[in-house]
Amino acid sequence: MDEQQPLPPHVLIFPLPLQGPVNSMVKLAQLICFSGLHVTLLLTENIHSRLVLHTNISSRFDQFPGFQIKTISDGLPEDHPREGSKFLEVFDSLKLKTKPLFKDMLTSGFFCSDGKRRPVSCIIADGILGFTCDVADEIGLPIFCVRTISPCCLWIFFCLPKLIESGEYPFKDNDLDEPIKSVPGTETFLRRRDLPGFCRSGNLTDSNIQLYKTEGQENSRAYGLILNTFEELDGQILNQMRTICPNIYPIGPLHANLKNKLSEQKTSFGQSSNSLWKEDRSCIDWLNNQLPKSVIYVSFGSIATMTNDQLMEFWYGLVNSGQRFLWVIRPDSVAGDDWKNKIPADLAEGTKERGYIVEWAPQEEVLSHPAVAGFWTHCGWNSILESVYEGKPMICWPYFMDQQVNSRFVEAVWGLGLDMKDTCDREIVEKMVKDLMVVRKDEFFERANHMSKLAKDCLREGGSSYSNFERLVKDIKTFK
Ligand code: UDX
Repeated sequence: MDEQQPLPPHVLIFPLPLQGPVNSMVKLAQLICFSGLHVTLLLTENIHSRLVLHTNISSRFDQFPGFQIKTISDGLPEDHPREGSKFLEVFDSLKLKTKPLFKDMLTSGFFCSDGKRRPVSCIIADGILGFTCDVADEIGLPIFCVRTISPCCLWIFFCLPKLIESGEYPFKDNDLDEPIKSVPGTETFLRRRDLPGFCRSGNLTDSNIQLYKTEGQENSRAYGLILNTFEELDGQILNQMRTICPNIYPIGPLHANLKNKLSEQKTSFGQSSNSLWKEDRSCIDWLNNQLPKSVIYVSFGSIATMTNDQLMEFWYGLVNSGQRFLWVIRPDSVAGDDWKNKIPADLAEGTKERGYIVEWAPQEEVLSHPAVAGFWTHCGWNSILESVYEGKPMICWPYFMDQQVNSRFVEAVWGLGLDMKDTCDREIVEKMVKDLMVVRKDEFFERANHMSKLAKDCLREGGSSYSNFERLVKDIKTFK
């Protein structure tokens, strides 16, 4: 770069160290680089080493001299478990041990590729990392929050104080079908069972309730809130949220936003993977040998786990449905490895005939494959957006967090599939798979195609997410 030219703003991006958020925010970092801004992506050491092991993370940014990755400790020993319920320990450690390191880094500036120390012009951090807002306040830096969970769940978090005030939470009895009335915009369809999973503890001192009760205040401290959604999908909820956070940037679906940019630039980097597990591409060969719209893809994301009993019920349901299936069973998703040695003969036979199982799949590619007709998902927000974009109807088996809310929206608001929450025995699985793939196939496809078209249109020049992203870049540029 010409010595005389002023350098572009330097943005620090700090994702929550989990597969879903890392996935979205690496994509956001790439998009911001394409806009000509300089980016430092700050990753915990644990996430960085896993990304380096399984992806081409660094080479993906080779074309951007203003991009660099820096690492920071999450404060836990290298071999400390971080998956599933252990994640709250990571969270506590980040707040306690990472916060002072983060502040030191920002006050001293970052060494950039030109060997010079450069101050950061603004921070983009996961909004659940409230300490990043504290640090930004303390040192006088502008900060944008990103929430990678669904807006519909985030809105419920914003309303938790209202739910408690109105007496609707904690519940006074166990009837999970009771309607919830104090979340504006959802009065006609939201039930107790659709609240984020941890609400069922019925305990106001629950660490999750304590954590999420202040979301409204925390997120409104930032200059703006960046969300992975689009107006046409979530407009009503976004309007509710604007009463608390007026400056919202819905720029999703992020994965497709980036894909479009890559194809516009004709870069050779192609499909971008941020997988923390090794992708088994043999499933694409298997799909290539299946008829169009004949396969249900089954995957429960990066955190959800199953008991052995659930595994058996799901498996029998799938095999008994008579449909073809591609199933991701992560190595750490079923307690113990025992199940592999005890597969009943009828399941082994049915799977050999009609199924294929892998430990981790290239999901975006799988969902865009013409052989895939539907997605049985845990309703993680990335999975939902990927499915919406590809026009694939869903069966929802929510595991935790926003997934209970998302699954209700899939069925009751968007009409894009079936919500299987809570009762998931083999008969229900078989019936829902048949309903999605055969009985109600046309009805779901029609709606899924319509939403997919809206998702594609919003990313074209002049579309809602396209324009919101341009506005974000313009606003960042004011913070030089
Ligand atoms: C977590 C939370 O569980 C979720 O509710 C929240 O919305 C985001 O963070 P996770 O379990 O990681 O989500 O699910 P999801 O958000 O769907 O993200 C999983 C990502 O992994 C997706 O981008 C998906 O494409 C990818 N994936 C999944 C693969 O690439 N291969 C697979 O085999 C499975």
